[in-house]
Amino acid sequence: MNNNILIEDFINGIPKVELHLHIEGTFEPELMFQIAKRNNVSIKFNSVRELKDAYSFNNLQDFLNIYYEGANVLLTQQDFYDLTNAYLEKIHSQNVHHCEIFFDPQTHTKRGVNFETIISGIHEALVQAKEEKGISSNLIMCFLRDMDIESAFNTLEEAIPFKNWIKGVGLDSAEVGNPPSKFKDVFDRARAAGFITVAHAGEEGPAEYVRQALDLLKVSRIDHGNKSLDDDKLVDDLVRLKMPLTICPLSNHKLRVVADLKNHPLKKMMDRGLAVTINSDDPAYFGGYMNENYNAIANALDLSKEDIYTITKNSINASFISDSDKLIMHQKVDNYMEHNK
Ligand code: ADE
Ligand code: ZN
Repeated sequence: MNNNILIEDFINGIPKVELHLHIEGTFEPELMFQIAKRNNVSIKFNSVRELKDAYSFNNLQDFLNIYYEGANVLLTQQDFYDLTNAYLEKIHSQNVHHCEIFFDPQTHTKRGVNFETIISGIHEALVQAKEEKGISSNLIMCFLRDMDIESAFNTLEEAIPFKNWIKGVGLDSAEVGNPPSKFKDVFDRARAAGFITVAHAGEEGPAEYVRQALDLLKVSRIDHGNKSLDDDKLVDDLVRLKMPLTICPLSNHKLRVVADLKNHPLKKMMDRGLAVTINSDDPAYFGGYMNENYNAIANALDLSKEDIYTITKNSINASFISDSDKLIMHQKVDNYMEHNK
Protein backbone atom coordinates (compact mmCIF):
# COMPACT_ATOMS: atom_id res chain seq x y z
CA MET A 1 0.00 0.00 0.00
CA ASN A 2 1.38 3.38 -1.00
CA ASN A 3 -0.68 6.07 0.71
CA ASN A 4 1.49 8.94 -0.37
CA ILE A 5 1.51 8.46 -4.10
CA LEU A 6 1.00 11.81 -5.81
CA ILE A 7 -2.06 12.21 -8.00
CA GLU A 8 0.21 12.76 -11.01
CA ASP A 9 2.09 9.51 -10.45
CA PHE A 10 -1.21 7.75 -9.75
CA ILE A 11 -2.60 9.00 -13.10
CA ASN A 12 0.53 8.14 -15.06
CA GLY A 13 0.59 4.59 -13.72
CA ILE A 14 -3.06 3.59 -13.85
CA PRO A 15 -3.97 1.35 -16.83
CA LYS A 16 -6.04 3.48 -19.20
CA VAL A 17 -8.42 3.16 -22.14
CA GLU A 18 -8.70 5.85 -24.83
CA LEU A 19 -12.02 6.19 -26.68
CA HIS A 20 -11.85 9.50 -28.55
CA LEU A 21 -8.76 9.89 -30.71
CA HIS A 22 -8.46 11.02 -34.33
CA ILE A 23 -5.42 9.37 -35.87
CA GLU A 24 -4.92 12.41 -38.13
CA GLY A 25 -4.84 14.49 -34.93
CA THR A 26 -1.75 12.64 -33.71
CA PHE A 27 0.37 14.00 -36.57
CA GLU A 28 3.35 15.58 -34.79
CA PRO A 29 5.05 18.39 -36.76
CA GLU A 30 8.40 16.57 -36.86
CA LEU A 31 6.83 13.50 -38.53
CA MET A 32 4.75 15.76 -40.80
CA PHE A 33 7.88 17.46 -42.16
CA GLN A 34 9.65 14.11 -42.54
CA ILE A 35 6.79 12.59 -44.55
CA ALA A 36 6.29 15.77 -46.62
CA LYS A 37 9.96 15.61 -47.60
CA ARG A 38 9.94 11.97 -48.65
CA ASN A 39 6.68 12.49 -50.61
CA ASN A 40 7.91 15.69 -52.21
CA VAL A 41 4.87 17.58 -50.96
CA SER A 42 5.15 21.20 -49.86
CA ILE A 43 3.80 22.50 -46.52
CA LYS A 44 2.58 26.07 -46.03
CA PHE A 45 4.97 26.48 -43.10
CA ASN A 46 8.75 26.82 -43.28
CA SER A 47 9.67 25.02 -40.09
CA VAL A 48 8.37 22.93 -37.20
CA ARG A 49 8.51 26.07 -35.06
CA GLU A 50 6.44 28.10 -37.53
CA LEU A 51 3.86 25.32 -37.72
CA LYS A 52 3.63 25.00 -33.94
CA ASP A 53 3.22 28.77 -33.66
CA ALA A 54 0.08 28.46 -35.80
CA TYR A 55 -1.55 26.18 -33.21
CA SER A 56 -3.70 28.87 -31.68
CA PHE A 57 -7.41 28.42 -32.28
CA ASN A 58 -10.52 30.50 -31.61
CA ASN A 59 -12.95 27.70 -32.44
CA LEU A 60 -13.34 24.26 -34.04
CA GLN A 61 -13.16 25.56 -37.64
CA ASP A 62 -9.84 27.35 -37.00
CA PHE A 63 -8.40 24.04 -35.88
CA LEU A 64 -9.96 21.98 -38.68
CA ASN A 65 -8.35 24.23 -41.32
CA ILE A 66 -4.86 23.37 -40.04
CA TYR A 67 -5.72 19.74 -39.28
CA TYR A 68 -6.83 19.09 -42.89
CA GLU A 69 -3.81 20.97 -44.22
CA GLY A 70 -1.49 18.70 -42.23
CA ALA A 71 -3.29 15.55 -43.39
CA ASN A 72 -2.59 16.51 -47.03
CA VAL A 73 0.95 15.13 -46.86
CA LEU A 74 -0.28 11.57 -46.13
CA LEU A 75 -0.17 9.59 -49.36
CA THR A 76 1.15 6.04 -48.98
CA GLN A 77 0.41 2.99 -46.87
CA GLN A 78 3.77 3.55 -45.18
CA ASP A 79 2.65 7.09 -44.18
CA PHE A 80 -0.50 5.80 -42.47
CA TYR A 81 1.51 3.04 -40.81
CA ASP A 82 4.12 5.50 -39.50
CA LEU A 83 1.45 7.89 -38.22
CA THR A 84 -0.40 5.13 -36.35
CA ASN A 85 2.77 3.52 -35.06
CA ALA A 86 4.01 6.81 -33.58
CA TYR A 87 0.73 7.22 -31.67
CA LEU A 88 0.88 3.64 -30.37
CA GLU A 89 4.45 4.08 -29.15
CA LYS A 90 3.41 7.22 -27.34
CA ILE A 91 0.43 5.67 -25.55
CA HIS A 92 2.46 2.58 -24.70
CA SER A 93 4.70 4.88 -22.65
CA GLN A 94 1.58 6.26 -20.92
CA ASN A 95 0.05 2.94 -19.80
CA VAL A 96 -2.85 3.02 -22.26
CA HIS A 97 -3.84 -0.63 -22.71
CA HIS A 98 -6.70 -0.26 -25.19
CA CYS A 99 -7.65 2.45 -27.71
CA GLU A 100 -10.53 3.11 -30.09
CA ILE A 101 -9.26 5.16 -32.99
CA PHE A 102 -11.15 7.40 -35.41
CA PHE A 103 -10.00 7.81 -38.98
CA ASP A 104 -11.42 10.19 -41.60
CA PRO A 105 -11.24 8.40 -44.99
CA GLN A 106 -12.87 11.25 -46.95
CA THR A 107 -10.01 13.60 -45.97
CA HIS A 108 -7.75 11.35 -48.02
CA THR A 109 -9.98 9.77 -50.68
CA LYS A 110 -11.03 13.23 -51.91
CA ARG A 111 -7.31 13.84 -52.65
CA GLY A 112 -7.08 10.61 -54.66
CA VAL A 113 -5.69 8.29 -51.96
CA ASN A 114 -7.27 4.82 -52.07
CA PHE A 115 -9.39 3.65 -49.14
CA GLU A 116 -7.34 0.44 -49.08
CA THR A 117 -4.06 2.37 -48.77
CA ILE A 118 -5.35 4.26 -45.73
CA ILE A 119 -6.85 1.38 -43.82
CA SER A 120 -4.09 -1.11 -44.62
CA GLY A 121 -1.41 1.18 -43.16
CA ILE A 122 -3.42 1.84 -40.01
CA HIS A 123 -4.42 -1.80 -39.59
CA GLU A 124 -0.85 -3.08 -39.98
CA ALA A 125 0.33 -0.84 -37.13
CA LEU A 126 -2.58 -1.92 -34.91
CA VAL A 127 -1.88 -5.63 -35.43
CA GLN A 128 1.80 -5.10 -34.66
CA ALA A 129 1.02 -3.11 -31.48
CA LYS A 130 -1.16 -5.95 -30.22
CA GLU A 131 1.61 -8.49 -30.85
CA GLU A 132 4.55 -6.45 -29.60
CA LYS A 133 3.07 -4.16 -26.96
CA GLY A 134 -0.12 -5.91 -25.90
CA ILE A 135 -2.19 -2.84 -26.84
CA SER A 136 -5.64 -3.79 -28.14
CA SER A 137 -7.66 -1.51 -30.40
CA ASN A 138 -10.82 -0.90 -32.39
CA LEU A 139 -11.15 1.30 -35.47
CA ILE A 140 -14.05 3.72 -35.96
CA MET A 141 -14.58 5.27 -39.39
CA CYS A 142 -15.90 8.84 -39.25
CA PHE A 143 -17.99 10.57 -41.89
CA LEU A 144 -17.17 14.25 -42.41
CA ARG A 145 -20.43 16.01 -41.55
CA ASP A 146 -19.60 19.08 -43.67
CA MET A 147 -19.63 16.85 -46.77
CA ASP A 148 -22.86 15.55 -48.30
CA ILE A 149 -24.65 12.31 -47.51
CA GLU A 150 -23.85 10.83 -50.95
CA SER A 151 -20.16 11.03 -50.14
CA ALA A 152 -20.85 9.34 -46.77
CA PHE A 153 -22.77 6.54 -48.55
CA ASN A 154 -19.87 6.06 -51.00
CA THR A 155 -17.45 5.88 -48.10
CA LEU A 156 -19.58 3.26 -46.37
CA GLU A 157 -19.58 1.19 -49.58
CA GLU A 158 -15.79 1.43 -49.76
CA ALA A 159 -15.55 0.21 -46.16
CA ILE A 160 -17.63 -2.93 -46.63
CA PRO A 161 -14.75 -5.12 -47.97
CA PHE A 162 -12.77 -4.16 -44.82
CA LYS A 163 -15.67 -4.67 -42.45
CA ASN A 164 -13.70 -7.05 -40.25
CA TRP A 165 -11.20 -4.29 -39.50
CA ILE A 166 -13.78 -1.62 -38.56
CA LYS A 167 -15.88 -1.76 -35.40
CA GLY A 168 -18.07 1.27 -35.88
CA VAL A 169 -18.86 4.49 -37.67
CA GLY A 170 -18.81 8.03 -36.29
CA LEU A 171 -19.48 11.63 -37.29
CA ASP A 172 -16.98 14.48 -37.03
CA SER A 173 -15.77 17.79 -38.54
CA ALA A 174 -17.67 21.13 -38.52
CA GLU A 175 -20.67 20.61 -36.26
CA VAL A 176 -22.86 23.73 -36.34
CA GLY A 177 -25.21 23.62 -39.35
CA ASN A 178 -24.53 19.91 -39.93
CA PRO A 179 -26.93 18.16 -37.51
CA PRO A 180 -27.02 14.39 -36.98
CA SER A 181 -30.40 14.31 -38.78
CA LYS A 182 -28.53 14.95 -42.06
CA PHE A 183 -26.90 11.50 -41.72
CA LYS A 184 -29.80 9.39 -40.44
CA ASP A 185 -30.08 7.27 -43.62
CA VAL A 186 -26.39 6.42 -43.85
CA PHE A 187 -26.29 5.51 -40.15
CA ASP A 188 -29.35 3.25 -40.67
CA ARG A 189 -27.43 1.49 -43.43
CA ALA A 190 -24.27 1.25 -41.33
CA ARG A 191 -26.12 -0.33 -38.40
CA ALA A 192 -27.83 -2.78 -40.76
CA ALA A 193 -24.35 -3.76 -42.00
CA GLY A 194 -23.31 -4.49 -38.40
CA PHE A 195 -21.42 -1.34 -37.40
CA ILE A 196 -21.78 0.19 -33.93
CA THR A 197 -22.45 3.96 -34.10
CA VAL A 198 -21.08 7.00 -32.27
CA ALA A 199 -21.20 10.73 -33.08
CA HIS A 200 -19.60 14.00 -32.11
CA ALA A 201 -22.45 16.05 -30.67
CA GLY A 202 -22.76 19.02 -28.35
CA GLU A 203 -19.14 20.14 -28.78
CA GLU A 204 -20.08 23.48 -30.37
CA GLY A 205 -23.57 22.44 -31.48
CA PRO A 206 -26.65 22.58 -29.22
CA ALA A 207 -28.10 19.95 -26.86
CA GLU A 208 -30.65 19.23 -29.61
CA TYR A 209 -27.85 17.63 -31.67
CA VAL A 210 -27.11 15.25 -28.78
CA ARG A 211 -30.81 14.34 -28.70
CA GLN A 212 -30.73 13.65 -32.47
CA ALA A 213 -27.59 11.52 -32.14
CA LEU A 214 -29.42 9.35 -29.58
CA ASP A 215 -32.81 9.15 -31.29
CA LEU A 216 -31.89 9.18 -35.00
CA LEU A 217 -28.37 7.75 -35.16
CA LYS A 218 -28.90 5.31 -32.23
CA VAL A 219 -25.39 5.93 -30.95
CA SER A 220 -23.64 3.88 -28.27
CA ARG A 221 -21.50 6.83 -27.12
CA ILE A 222 -21.64 10.61 -27.44
CA ASP A 223 -18.32 12.21 -28.40
CA HIS A 224 -17.92 15.40 -26.32
CA GLY A 225 -21.54 16.09 -25.32
CA ASN A 226 -20.63 19.18 -23.28
CA LYS A 227 -23.73 21.10 -24.34
CA SER A 228 -26.00 18.34 -22.97
CA LEU A 229 -25.96 20.18 -19.66
CA ASP A 230 -28.20 22.88 -21.19
CA ASP A 231 -31.12 20.41 -21.23
CA ASP A 232 -32.11 18.77 -17.92
CA LYS A 233 -34.41 16.21 -19.50
CA LEU A 234 -31.62 15.17 -21.89
CA VAL A 235 -29.21 14.76 -18.97
CA ASP A 236 -31.78 12.59 -17.16
CA ASP A 237 -32.09 10.42 -20.26
CA LEU A 238 -28.29 10.14 -20.72
CA VAL A 239 -27.97 9.05 -17.08
CA ARG A 240 -30.83 6.54 -17.36
CA LEU A 241 -29.34 5.10 -20.57
CA LYS A 242 -25.84 4.99 -18.98
CA MET A 243 -24.74 6.74 -22.18
CA PRO A 244 -20.99 7.37 -22.09
CA LEU A 245 -19.60 10.82 -22.94
CA THR A 246 -16.08 10.97 -24.33
CA ILE A 247 -14.77 14.20 -22.80
CA CYS A 248 -11.57 15.80 -24.13
CA PRO A 249 -10.33 18.41 -21.63
CA LEU A 250 -7.35 19.93 -23.46
CA SER A 251 -9.32 20.01 -26.72
CA ASN A 252 -12.18 21.81 -24.97
CA HIS A 253 -9.75 24.38 -23.67
CA LYS A 254 -7.79 24.89 -26.93
CA LEU A 255 -10.98 25.20 -29.00
CA ARG A 256 -12.55 27.50 -26.42
CA VAL A 257 -15.48 25.24 -25.62
CA VAL A 258 -14.46 26.22 -22.07
CA ALA A 259 -12.59 29.46 -21.35
CA ASP A 260 -10.69 27.99 -18.41
CA LEU A 261 -10.23 24.34 -17.39
CA LYS A 262 -11.22 25.36 -13.88
CA ASN A 263 -14.74 25.93 -15.31
CA HIS A 264 -14.84 22.60 -17.11
CA PRO A 265 -18.12 20.78 -16.34
CA LEU A 266 -16.55 17.31 -15.98
CA LYS A 267 -16.98 17.07 -12.21
CA LYS A 268 -20.49 18.50 -12.42
CA MET A 269 -21.26 15.82 -15.01
CA MET A 270 -19.96 13.08 -12.72
CA ASP A 271 -22.01 14.43 -9.81
CA ARG A 272 -25.10 14.35 -12.04
CA GLY A 273 -24.44 10.64 -12.68
CA LEU A 274 -23.14 10.90 -16.24
CA ALA A 275 -20.68 8.24 -17.43
CA VAL A 276 -17.77 10.52 -18.34
CA THR A 277 -14.46 9.38 -19.79
CA ILE A 278 -11.22 11.32 -20.45
CA ASN A 279 -9.59 11.33 -23.89
CA SER A 280 -7.12 13.29 -26.00
CA ASP A 281 -9.01 13.99 -29.30
CA ASP A 282 -6.14 15.49 -31.37
CA PRO A 283 -3.12 15.33 -29.06
CA ALA A 284 -0.51 16.70 -31.49
CA TYR A 285 -2.55 19.91 -31.81
CA PHE A 286 -3.92 20.35 -28.30
CA GLY A 287 -0.80 19.90 -26.19
CA GLY A 288 -1.12 16.45 -24.73
CA TYR A 289 -1.90 12.76 -24.87
CA MET A 290 -3.83 10.80 -22.25
CA ASN A 291 -1.67 11.50 -19.19
CA GLU A 292 -1.52 15.22 -19.95
CA ASN A 293 -5.31 15.34 -20.32
CA TYR A 294 -5.93 13.46 -17.08
CA ASN A 295 -3.40 15.57 -15.19
CA ALA A 296 -4.64 18.89 -16.54
CA ILE A 297 -8.25 18.26 -15.57
CA ALA A 298 -7.31 16.63 -12.24
CA ASN A 299 -5.31 19.73 -11.30
CA ALA A 300 -7.94 22.18 -12.51
CA LEU A 301 -10.83 20.46 -10.70
CA ASP A 302 -8.89 18.97 -7.80
CA LEU A 303 -9.97 15.44 -8.70
CA SER A 304 -9.26 12.65 -6.22
CA LYS A 305 -7.76 9.21 -6.86
CA GLU A 306 -11.28 7.80 -6.48
CA ASP A 307 -12.49 10.17 -9.22
CA ILE A 308 -9.67 9.02 -11.53
CA TYR A 309 -10.44 5.39 -10.70
CA THR A 310 -14.14 5.94 -11.51
CA ILE A 311 -13.30 7.59 -14.83
CA THR A 312 -10.97 4.79 -15.92
CA LYS A 313 -13.65 2.24 -14.98
CA ASN A 314 -16.21 4.24 -17.00
CA SER A 315 -13.90 4.05 -20.02
CA ILE A 316 -13.63 0.26 -19.76
CA ASN A 317 -17.41 -0.07 -19.55
CA ALA A 318 -17.88 2.32 -22.48
CA SER A 319 -15.39 0.54 -24.76
CA PHE A 320 -16.38 -1.85 -27.55
CA ILE A 321 -14.31 -4.79 -26.26
CA SER A 322 -15.84 -8.14 -25.24
CA ASP A 323 -17.19 -8.70 -21.73
CA SER A 324 -14.33 -11.07 -20.96
CA ASP A 325 -11.75 -8.47 -22.06
CA LYS A 326 -13.57 -5.84 -19.98
CA LEU A 327 -13.25 -8.10 -16.96
CA ILE A 328 -9.49 -8.40 -17.50
CA MET A 329 -9.14 -4.60 -17.81
CA HIS A 330 -11.28 -4.04 -14.68
CA GLN A 331 -9.07 -6.45 -12.75
CA LYS A 332 -5.94 -4.59 -13.82
CA VAL A 333 -7.39 -1.26 -12.67
CA ASP A 334 -8.77 -2.71 -9.41
CA ASN A 335 -5.42 -4.29 -8.66
CA TYR A 336 -3.65 -0.98 -9.33
CA MET A 337 -6.08 0.87 -7.06
CA GLU A 338 -5.60 -1.70 -4.30
CA HIS A 339 -1.82 -1.15 -4.35
CA ASN A 340 -1.84 2.63 -4.81
CA LYS A 341 -4.66 3.93 -2.62
N1 ADE B 1 -12.04 16.17 -36.15
C1 ADE B 1 -10.92 16.09 -35.43
N2 ADE B 1 -11.10 16.60 -34.20
C2 ADE B 1 -12.39 17.01 -34.14
C3 ADE B 1 -13.18 17.61 -33.14
N3 ADE B 1 -12.70 17.92 -31.93
N4 ADE B 1 -14.45 17.90 -33.43
C4 ADE B 1 -14.95 17.62 -34.64
N5 ADE B 1 -14.25 17.05 -35.61
C5 ADE B 1 -12.97 16.74 -35.37
ZN1 ZN C 1 -13.05 14.47 -31.83
